[in-house]
Amino acid sequence: MNKSLRKAVIAGNWKMNKTPAEAAALINEMKPLVADADCDVVLCVPYVDIPAALEAAKGSNIKIGAENVHFKASGAYTGEISAEMLTALGVEYVVIGHSERRQYFGETDQTVNLRSLAALNAGLKAIICVGETLEQRELGYTETLLKYQTKMALTNVTAEQLKNVIIAYEPVWAIGTGVTATDDQANEGNCYVRQAIAEAYGADVAETVTVQYGGSMNAKNAEGLLSKEHVDGGLIGGASLKAADFSVIVKAASK
Ligand code: 13P
Repeated sequence: MNKSLRKAVIAGNWKMNKTPAEAAALINEMKPLVADADCDVVLCVPYVDIPAALEAAKGSNIKIGAENVHFKASGAYTGEISAEMLTALGVEYVVIGHSERRQYFGETDQTVNLRSLAALNAGLKAIICVGETLEQRELGYTETLLKYQTKMALTNVTAEQLKNVIIAYEPVWAIGTGVTATDDQANEGNCYVRQAIAEAYGADVAETVTVQYGGSMNAKNAEGLLSKEHVDGGLIGGASLKAADFSVIVKAASK
């Protein structure tokens, strides 16, 4: 992390977990544990949990996000949720292009870009996910792929809008597997992302963008990962479902 240049952000991604009542209970448990955080604290939760999560987080330093957003403003898109619907509730963040959506729900670099534009145009902060599969890594395509995904996601995003963008480097092979990238692998992946931003927007701008690492980040390995120059925070899956573990990660980012 380099807090003099950019914001440290720890975000939970709850994925398809927790009912509204369970969401409220977990946030109430987390609130006192993260109250003195010296980083931004975000919880991205299932759509139906959003009202309960917002209510539970009220008056605290926990910000609430969604896990996806559609790219159209309205219309015949059964089952989808627009950016305006999210902002109307008071949502501030949204995860876009998570590898699980790319893998199971047909998300492409183009739809990731469209969703990002819709989110940013509505005033949401976008947490855009990029990451290589194990096969792509073993074939030596990590740098090429991360730079391509980053640039594709940011197509037509203005430098002004980029202030509301966080990129999360999430190697697919590290997600939910318990196999974390080493501190150096995480730093290298995040550095490729920053280089792609520099190529598109200039080095000075790239230095200001928060780039998170995600993939089996937990209470034990967070401090090492976050000690790296280009790791400006984390996007946390499993460990964000446990108040104690999540708060240890927040504390590691607060140093
Ligand atoms: P895990 O922390 O469970 O590996 O999930 C990471 C992730 O996908 C966050 O978006």
